Amino acid sequence: MSANKFGKEGWTPNRIKDLSGKTFVITGTTSGTGFEAARILLSKGARVGMLNRNPQKAKEITQILQQENSKADIINIQIDLGVQASVKQAAAEVLQSIDRIDALMCNGAIAQVPTRKLTKEGWESQMGVNYFGHFTLQALLYPLIEKSQGRIVTVGSLGYDMGLKTIKFDDLNWNEGYTPNNAYSQSKLAQIMSAYELQRRLALAGKTAVKVYACHPGSSRTSLIKTSGSLLMRITFGLMKLSPLTQPAEKGAYPELMCATEEDLDQTAFYGPTGRSNWVGPVGAHHIESHAKDEAVAQRLWDLSVAETGVTWNI
Ligand SMILES: NC(=O)c1ccc[n+]([C@@H]2O[C@H](COP(=O)([O-])OP(=O)(O)OC[C@H]3O[C@@H](n4cnc5c(N)ncnc54)[C@H](OP(=O)(O)O)[C@@H]3O)[C@@H](O)[C@H]2O)c1
Repeated sequence: MSANKFGKEGWTPNRIKDLSGKTFVITGTTSGTGFEAARILLSKGARVGMLNRNPQKAKEITQILQQENSKADIINIQIDLGVQASVKQAAAEVLQSIDRIDALMCNGAIAQVPTRKLTKEGWESQMGVNYFGHFTLQALLYPLIEKSQGRIVTVGSLGYDMGLKTIKFDDLNWNEGYTPNNAYSQSKLAQIMSAYELQRRLALAGKTAVKVYACHPGSSRTSLIKTSGSLLMRITFGLMKLSPLTQPAEKGAYPELMCATEEDLDQTAFYGPTGRSNWVGPVGAHHIESHAKDEAVAQRLWDLSVAETGVTWNI
């Protein structure tokens, strides 16, 4: 990979100009990278639509953000990414209350769920929340994103390169062989693959105004494992947090902020920290393994996702 185009320090929010008049929609802002991303966008004058599953937590963080910034322009909408009816309701509310989307930032997630759980729709929970929830949200908000000449930003994970490294089409919901890491990794791989597949579909349709980016936050000190991981994972990650192999949540927000705001980014790249193991360090483009860009798998996944969710992409 060539030298970081943003210099030795990599991309930082100092590059973000005044965002007055721009609107960003983010899933999962009650903690971690989503909270930090919302905070930074608000500090630059943007309007932020925060899509969260827990209205009480959403209220609390709204107060925190407004105490910090009296001009914070926030719209709160409830969503449970793991329930398709809730995703559809949230999308309808976004379309009613927000008139432009400069970037939809698909950030919310659960991870390392210790035992196999199924969503209401019967999907393995990480696949249901992280992947199918965002697939439907993107499809329903696409017309407004297109009208706004906006972007879709997928927050993936280096987990895409763990586990099976492909989609388990013969047993998508892990009736056999469930492990928390393999199922999480599949959900994150699916998110990343569908971002590159969406780019391909937009290009085929001659629609170049909407940009789609895939990124990840490296290894960041957030609530992710505390919220959904097992006791062992919580202890392991708790110890990791003490090492230099992790970074503050704010730095974990930089890749998604870059993808949401920076001009002239290469859509085919994968963005995240470029330091040790891509867990920490200056933010920029870095290598992505070829299985994440396997077109045959991505096309099959896309068709399956349309059939499973029943949504129509108006591309
Ligand atoms: N931290 C890392 O090192 C790391 C590494 C690789 C990838 N990532 C990715 O980074 C992104 C942000 O995660 P984070 O580390 O900042 O974790 P986090 O602090 O746990 O934040 C996750 C957010 O997602 C929300 N969420 C969870 N389930 C939801 C649902 N069903 N519907 C709507 N929102 C839901 C959470 O809301 P609640 O408050 O309701 O739980 C929370 O706001 C995720 O996509 C994650 O996969 C993180």
